[in-house]
Amino acid sequence: MSEPARRTLVRGGTVVTAAGSAVADVRLADGTIVEIGRLEAGPGEEVVDAAGCYVLPGGVDFHTHIDAVFRGSIRTADDWRTGSAAAAAGGTTTVVDFCRAEDGQPLAEAIGEWRDRVAAQDPWIDYGVHAILVQPDEERLAELDALPGLGVASVKLYLAYPGRMMSDDRALFRTMQRAAELGLLVLVHAENGHAIDVLVEEALAAGHVEPEWHGHTRPPLTEAEAVSRATVLARIAGAELYVVHLSSLRALEEVRRAAADGAGVHAETCSHYLVLDESMLAGAPREEAARYVCSPPTRSKDDQAGLWRALGDGGIEVLASDHCPFALRGEKIVEGDFTHIMNGLPGVEQRLMIGYSGVARGAYSIERFVDITSTTPARLAGLYPRKGGIAIGSDADLVILDPAGRTRFSAETHHSAVDYLPYEGIEVDGAIRDVFAGGRRVLRDGELQPAARGGRFLARSTIAPTASRGRRLSEPHPPEPHVLEQRRGATS
Ligand code: URP
Ligand code: ZN
Ligand code: ZN
Repeated sequence: MSEPARRTLVRGGTVVTAAGSAVADVRLADGTIVEIGRLEAGPGEEVVDAAGCYVLPGGVDFHTHIDAVFRGSIRTADDWRTGSAAAAAGGTTTVVDFCRAEDGQPLAEAIGEWRDRVAAQDPWIDYGVHAILVQPDEERLAELDALPGLGVASVKLYLAYPGRMMSDDRALFRTMQRAAELGLLVLVHAENGHAIDVLVEEALAAGHVEPEWHGHTRPPLTEAEAVSRATVLARIAGAELYVVHLSSLRALEEVRRAAADGAGVHAETCSHYLVLDESMLAGAPREEAARYVCSPPTRSKDDQAGLWRALGDGGIEVLASDHCPFALRGEKIVEGDFTHIMNGLPGVEQRLMIGYSGVARGAYSIERFVDITSTTPARLAGLYPRKGGIAIGSDADLVILDPAGRTRFSAETHHSAVDYLPYEGIEVDGAIRDVFAGGRRVLRDGELQPAARGGRFLARSTIAPTASRGRRLSEPHPPEPHVLEQRRGATS
């Protein structure tokens, strides 16, 4: 006899999607959403009371570095056990992480090994992967043909970190041409690595070794130049471009200009740029300042205000975390000059609540909050409508957020393995109460439930390969018909 369906009724919450909000009940069965409307509990069904709370689609974080190695041998603080626990506790039910093949290692082999390594750690939530390319030659580019069949729909190149990760313009442009043919999204870390190297040499020669010089040697124009170059090359190649961790107003101008020109360009900013700024490094003791070192660096208050605005007006479409934690008493490397400090910050657990704080500050609506943290990243990832919405047939990934609660960020209570938090002590309105991932209640009344682990690898769809692209992937999209049909049923 087959097992009876595992059913849960989430009752009485305000269901929010990117398209609208309404009070409704949501029925989950065997990992998917099966009914939405005014629903009666069935015999033996688990009922979760969500009255007074928001019911949101699970968060989709399009940019994490979990269990990743940088500079040859330095591993991030979180493996998949702790990194995915932190994600789940913070309301993120899908992450898209990165796989980098060793020099000479076939991409398909690296992706296979990456999958095996992640699966062996039994993640809490579902996961997909981007392929990192470092100065790809024609042989490497020929391997891109295999990516769609492996469920990998995006590649990432670094325009920074010469000698370690950087790709030159030829490699970037050739990748864009192949990506346009294959329907792969091209991600870029957009900073001009050569100019930054020169500025770093000059700063060190002048005796500037303190962490704040990490920021001074990466001014906004080094970011804007790289964004501009990437958008122009993407237009020529007909590629769909995604700028990761956009941090400055000047770089944002380049995105806006390219989008207005018809480029298929999408920009992401990260939670840390919304709450941290350059003043936190200035003049601070070395160990304090090192906590905030990331690339691009945290910027001015004006930049910060501009990023909030752009999340509201659509100039920036995605809020990601770039979760890349290094232990302060270990891998972060606080000693020596600023070039030794490992750049990268934690944030996968705080991203959603930092994003939600934008609703209270009037930066955008609750629907827009869902859009930037779940729906649009799911679309760009090639995972929508399975992820990123609340509709019949979608995965049962839900967050119950209590607007009357309060959240205080602290390394004493977070679930990441990293030993500090750059957001230490920051408080925001609202609290994540429950999280369902594939119908499993991974967070219950604020407590992680280890028995509910069970994340799966996500094979992602490519974007339609075409040479004429525009900003259509995540433009205001039609309402989700299933949700609206059910809502109409609920009110008639
Ligand atoms: O500082 C950052 N962003 N570290 C993570 C690696 C990267 O550049 O994405
Ligand atoms: Zn980066
Ligand atoms: Zn990153």
